[in-house]
Amino acid sequence: MDLMPDDVLQLRGEALDALTAAGDDGALDAWHVTYFGRKDGRLTAILRGLAARSIDERKSIGAAANALKTELEAAYDARRDELRAAAVRRALEGGAIDVTLPPRPHTRGGLHPVTQTLRRILAAFTSMGFSVVEGPEVELDYYNFEALRIPADHPARDMWDTLWVDAPLDGQRALLMRTHTSPAQIRTMEQQAPPIRIVVPGRAYRFEATDTTHEWMMTQVEVLAVDEGLTLAHLKGTLLGVMQRLFGSGRRIRLQCSYFPFVEPGAEVQMDCFNCAGAGCATCHQTGWIEMGGAGMVHPEILENMGIDSNRYTGFAAGMGIERLAMQLYGVPDMRFFYQNDLRMLRQF
Ligand code: DAH
Repeated sequence: MDLMPDDVLQLRGEALDALTAAGDDGALDAWHVTYFGRKDGRLTAILRGLAARSIDERKSIGAAANALKTELEAAYDARRDELRAAAVRRALEGGAIDVTLPPRPHTRGGLHPVTQTLRRILAAFTSMGFSVVEGPEVELDYYNFEALRIPADHPARDMWDTLWVDAPLDGQRALLMRTHTSPAQIRTMEQQAPPIRIVVPGRAYRFEATDTTHEWMMTQVEVLAVDEGLTLAHLKGTLLGVMQRLFGSGRRIRLQCSYFPFVEPGAEVQMDCFNCAGAGCATCHQTGWIEMGGAGMVHPEILENMGIDSNRYTGFAAGMGIERLAMQLYGVPDMRFFYQNDLRMLRQF
């Protein structure tokens, strides 16, 4: 420091004295502004003034001023730490900090049981060579109904009495909250030639009276495979493989004849009730079986409409409700529990 030009040396003495005198955060801040302030800081002014000096001065004063800057910054940090430590010490002595108080627990978030179930199902399908695609939740009448062979006056529309979006479009261009994930079958066949193997997870909406197994919003997984030589046996084998992977080899499924306009033949996929093991209870509406979804062989007319030769290719399709599978997996007796957002319920998973 003895090489410092006089004014820098003088500034150093003043600054260090003032720092020692600063007794709290407010005084520390003021000190910092006095010496380092961007506009009028005293050290800042010296550094800024260098430009006007001769080369020799610039060298000697510049070196000294920069060394002082480093020194003062370190002194400032040290003084700040010292003041803080002193404040904590005073608080402890005065009893203001109770070091025996237990910390608040960190609460960990978790995945919703329906999300967990969905992921397990997708994992089962992708391990069998299916890929995951998605479709829009607000859908055109065309994809949700028309292209699936459900024209405007078809009685099958009653099954999907639903929620329409108020938009100035009508007919096939009317918009609705999709009632199922099946429209994604059409969207996929429009884009892709066989072989096709896809699963489509997503939400579906219906104007529905709720009960233990019905909600107005639900999660579905759609399955579609189109290839040469596919039969109903492939459909049943695929679904059984997935269900056994999820529930173990003991669980049974059955296909019961049913009608969906976009498949021929069509079936309802059912699984024996987890709650009563088939005896009949409130959860399965006394039947011993719970409907997991629909399935069937893709209607040849749809294949043809999509430009797929129905003499060469066949397809199978299925759509499953994930909440019902989650009910089975976790033994939840009422579907409505999933969306009441009661943490006492959700924390169990
Ligand atoms: N989309 C139907 C529903 O939500 C379920 C369904 C039935 C999907 C048959 C299919 C199928 O893929 O082939 O009620």
